[in-house]
Amino acid sequence: MVKERGNFNSRFTAIMAMAGSAIGLGNIWRFPYMVGQNGGAAFILVYLFSAVFLCIPIFLAESIIGKRTHLSTFGAMEKLAPGTRWKWLGFLTVFTPLIILSYYSVVGGWSIEYFLKSLSLSFSDPAVSMEEHSAVFGSFITSPWKPIVFHTIFLLVNAVVIIFGVRGGIERFTKLTTPVLFILIVLIMLYSVNLPGAKAGIDYLIHPDFSKITGSALLSAMGQAFFSLSLGVGCILTYASYLKSDENLMATGIFTALFDLGFAIIAGFAIMPAVFAAGIEPGAGPGLIFETLPFIFSTMGADAPWLCDIVAILFFLTILFAALTSSISMLEVGVAYLVDQRKMSRTRATALLFAGCWVLGVLCSLSFGPLKDVHVFGMTIFDACDHLTSDFLMTFGSLLFVFFVGWKMKKAEVRDEFTNGGSLRFNKRVFDVVYFFIRYVAPAAIIVIFISNLLM
Ligand code: PHE
Repeated sequence: MVKERGNFNSRFTAIMAMAGSAIGLGNIWRFPYMVGQNGGAAFILVYLFSAVFLCIPIFLAESIIGKRTHLSTFGAMEKLAPGTRWKWLGFLTVFTPLIILSYYSVVGGWSIEYFLKSLSLSFSDPAVSMEEHSAVFGSFITSPWKPIVFHTIFLLVNAVVIIFGVRGGIERFTKLTTPVLFILIVLIMLYSVNLPGAKAGIDYLIHPDFSKITGSALLSAMGQAFFSLSLGVGCILTYASYLKSDENLMATGIFTALFDLGFAIIAGFAIMPAVFAAGIEPGAGPGLIFETLPFIFSTMGADAPWLCDIVAILFFLTILFAALTSSISMLEVGVAYLVDQRKMSRTRATALLFAGCWVLGVLCSLSFGPLKDVHVFGMTIFDACDHLTSDFLMTFGSLLFVFFVGWKMKKAEVRDEFTNGGSLRFNKRVFDVVYFFIRYVAPAAIIVIFISNLLM
């Protein structure tokens, strides 16, 4: 069974795939502007705290279900709780990553456009003002066809990687790109922290301003931690189903979380010092990387245009790779379901889901331009997909997984899977603490987050 579905070759490649899923636009695009809007270092501390105490238990719950069954969400729940309705809840989670993929690939498409722009060396012109950069970005995303072309290319790349399978596609792609991502972001950070005036940005990231930690900042930090670790959508569950049975879940969980956190923080140090060096407002919002950074590249271009061009190319390449390693994990959840449960071929499953995500993605893309007045729950289609998934569906999915492992599965079964039949000594020792977090702490915290999101 495991052989037919494919599996990861080693712990290293499994961690690269999981870390690749976790590290994405969330780290480079969302994290820095959220830090900017929510008080710098204080936000990072809350984020770290929730990652350790909340996200790792959820991560472990998902991976326990995946590795125990070697099946994707629906099949896994059916196998572990036969004859119950749990599988339908599992089935619901198949849709969440597909909705995320639809709008995520629109932003993925923007990063292709900006990467190509950086290759044409157009970011080092110091004569271009911030307003002009914003206008260029605005007219690009509101144009009816250009972003759709790039959205299509982005989705196609995903489809090709997925068709090649777990070893030939996902593993081969992520074991190369995830390490490259780290090298790129460290290079950019080294450049950024050495800019004149960078110190203010570094201070901003280091000194916490606790007065900014309001209820909504707390919620954003937790929501960001969920989003960043790809939790509650079945991606971790599905990737864990490709682990070998003797893999140590504690190790994959901790390394993935460490890489993800490390990357987000390095990305913060790559972006904020440059933002401060250019004298720009740090809470600039979602436009930060597509509007502000091109301006920063161009202001720095006055002294050393060639260096700016190189940094711009590296930067947009990083964004593109980061987006791709995450988006393939979103597509894989649905493909794994269709292959496991519907016995479809990988190619057919991929083609079918490609078509669905393409259509929803086109609507998301058009919601910046021709469809900007079409509102769902008072939001544009793009924003509605983002809020629906990150504020509700991901929290719902996370709750489902921790509840399932903490309350539905037998404790002995959970222990057996977590300790590999009692053979992992460290895991045996920490099991009771981990179980307590999965059974009580995580569900309680997730319910509070869920209700608060409903009330906001
Ligand atoms: N974790 C990814 C990021 O940080 C986003 C993601 C969400 C990936 C859900 C998979 C599933 O960008």
